Amino acid sequence: DKLHRFLHALPKCEHHVHIEGTISPELLFNLASRNGISLPTDDSAFESPATLQARYDRFTSLDDFLHYYFIGFSVLVGVSDFEALAYDYLSLAYSQKVHHAEIFFDPQAHVSRGVTYQTIIAGLNAAKQRAQRDFPRLSVEFIPCLLRHLPVPSGHGMLTELLETGHFFDGTLVGFGMSSTELEMHPSLYKEVYEAARAAGVANLTAHYGEEGPSDYVKDALTLLSVSRIDHGRRSAEDEELIAQLAETGTMLTLCPISNVVLKGVGSMRELPIRRFLDANVKFSINSDDPAYFGGYILENYCAVQEAFGLSVDDWAKIARGAITGSWCSHARKEQLL
Ligand code: ADE
Ligand code: ZN
Repeated sequence: DKLHRFLHALPKCEHHVHIEGTISPELLFNLASRNGISLPTDDSAFESPATLQARYDRFTSLDDFLHYYFIGFSVLVGVSDFEALAYDYLSLAYSQKVHHAEIFFDPQAHVSRGVTYQTIIAGLNAAKQRAQRDFPRLSVEFIPCLLRHLPVPSGHGMLTELLETGHFFDGTLVGFGMSSTELEMHPSLYKEVYEAARAAGVANLTAHYGEEGPSDYVKDALTLLSVSRIDHGRRSAEDEELIAQLAETGTMLTLCPISNVVLKGVGSMRELPIRRFLDANVKFSINSDDPAYFGGYILENYCAVQEAFGLSVDDWAKIARGAITGSWCSHARKEQLL
């Protein structure tokens, strides 16, 4: 219908997509066989792409999903695997009018399998270069994420090693984030890591909080980690003071509506505080998170929000502008996007 066409035509910024979360069951099985990676034999979900896809429809929580997510991307080995994955994501995103993409990746879970930083970054950069040549209106940035289910020193080590590559300062990596399991992973655990990143000159810091965890995690991430953005952050709506603080500071939440429904954070789309955030002037963007696992890329997320909330054209203009001003790109690039 008309609004669907409007939403499709709306230029978009995506700030919350894990490149490892864009691997389809078909590609997963193809790469496993091509790279000689054995998939679990004691879990019938791994019998075929179809059984794996069927398992994705029954996720019970973030941690239940993460189990499959980490097994799934163990099939990524060579530069060309990372390049193909990222290029395919970028071309699909561009077909949905994504004009600026900031892409997360999980260095620790690759390096621990013997894949080097150079391999990952060479693949991602090749995809970026090819996509920006093929899709001239597209800008692309990459953000490494610390994994919270691994020991803190592992994450700190990853930061140190990436700092040594110089890629935070040569235009390759635009910021630093963290993801994976949330409950009991209080921001205070990562204070030193984030201080080290900031001291080294990494200006753009973010963290996944308020996805499953309480609003206090979001509040504490803002003060203890000095993040300028929160990934998910949906549970911030449970704290009036925090809502006011987010609005006042212009801190952007990178919401992932379909993800929250599929991982059972909410019972339905309507429970998301979209209207609350709009009315309180909390800046947010709408994103896909792990589209191959959750059954929707960015446009499907925009459409699902529209179906649940019946937003106006003015609401969408506000969302689209907020997503541009909240992007980690140059002022000049923002002017182009606006
Ligand atoms: N890694 C990939 N997707 C994630 C999510 N939704 N939350 C936390 N970590 C993730
Ligand atoms: Zn995420």
